[in-house]
Amino acid sequence: MPVITCIDDLKRLHKRRTPKMFYDYCESGSWTEQTFRENTSDFEDIRLRQRVAVNMEGRTLATKMIGQDVSMPVALAPVGLTGMQRADGEIKAAKAAEKFGVPFTLSTMSICSIEDVAEHTTKPFWFQLYTMKDQDYLKRLIQRAKDAKCSALVITLDLQILGQRHKDLKNGLSAPPKLTPAVIADLMTKWTWGLEMLQTNRRQFGNIVGHVKGVKDTSRLGEWTAQQFDPALDWSKIEQIKEMWGGPVILKGILDAEDAVMAKKVGCDAIVVSNHGGRQQDGALSSIRALDPILQAVGGDLEVHLDSGIRSGQDVLKAIAMGATGTYIGRAFIHGLGAQGEAGVTAALEVIRKEMDISMAFTGKRDIKDVDRSCILVPEGFSGRWQD
Ligand SMILES: Cc1cc2nc3c(=O)[nH]c(=O)nc-3n(C[C@H](O)[C@H](O)[C@H](O)COP(=O)(O)O)c2cc1C
Repeated sequence: MPVITCIDDLKRLHKRRTPKMFYDYCESGSWTEQTFRENTSDFEDIRLRQRVAVNMEGRTLATKMIGQDVSMPVALAPVGLTGMQRADGEIKAAKAAEKFGVPFTLSTMSICSIEDVAEHTTKPFWFQLYTMKDQDYLKRLIQRAKDAKCSALVITLDLQILGQRHKDLKNGLSAPPKLTPAVIADLMTKWTWGLEMLQTNRRQFGNIVGHVKGVKDTSRLGEWTAQQFDPALDWSKIEQIKEMWGGPVILKGILDAEDAVMAKKVGCDAIVVSNHGGRQQDGALSSIRALDPILQAVGGDLEVHLDSGIRSGQDVLKAIAMGATGTYIGRAFIHGLGAQGEAGVTAALEVIRKEMDISMAFTGKRDIKDVDRSCILVPEGFSGRWQD
């Protein structure tokens, strides 16, 4: 068994064990990938303070996200096609998250359906909603999440239309993959992936296939998105969805203080400062740089969470020290899943927990709830000096 010491170890195994089409789908950003790169590199600009001769005994990372207990402030982000990274991927990741005591968020664009995941878990998970033009489908989708006892609705606001990811077009991304000569040649080197896929019948978009009228071919994500996602989404529609749901709501994809203020007006339990992992607006600020102005605009009035670029427990610690009250990991857990299935997701969570715990101790803190700006050094002008 390979020794896993960091997320990069899992990433290397993920690449080796997963068809190129799906690894590339995970490990890419839109257009030039500037925002994708800066999401991670900007974390490096923030430094952690090192304090000494402080009692480090009895440390805890346990806290709450939207009032729900979490063993550390890290949720699994919604990731489409997770069940293509590894057979039954959403069920495996949800189980790992449940055992670890952190929230799992199921994407609308998952392979395993809401009902599949509910059947294989014992605690409520969160459901991420993409808003669709088809109102009837939208209502039924929300009802299905309610019936499955999902404990929060995460409404994604930054994907009304799809940012272009060059690799997906070049690879002909589809679920299940179309068996072209290049795909067959690639699959010949990914035997375990293929054998596991043959043993499951979950190989299509589980929340869509059989639930949507008039869509014949759902295998091509880009085409389906262009047809079905609602480009006319606005704040009034968000309010309506909130009413329909009636439970805790998290608004995901906020990167601008003005939008954060709108989110507060509409009313929600939390926002996620996110640029979709650099997959949508290329050239946008990294999430960690965008955080401060948003906290200044709405911090204290609602929970501010953050994702995009987190690859270590130190990154989580920095986000919390900056003022976020929760974080999400996307690629970090997908690398674990692609590398080793459920055990790999657990390994990713363990890596992050250990890094966060030890780094927190070095900053002189014993409780994640006490982590604040005093733990970090933020360079002057970190959030940018931009003209109005
Ligand atoms: C392969 C992939 C698929 C994604 N699919 C979705 C999705 O279906 N819904 C959604 O709201 N966000 C989706 N995201 C964005 C993630 O929820 C999250 O914002 C992002 O991964 C955070 O960045 P990180 O990967 O650097 O941690 C996806 C991200 C990746 C990498």
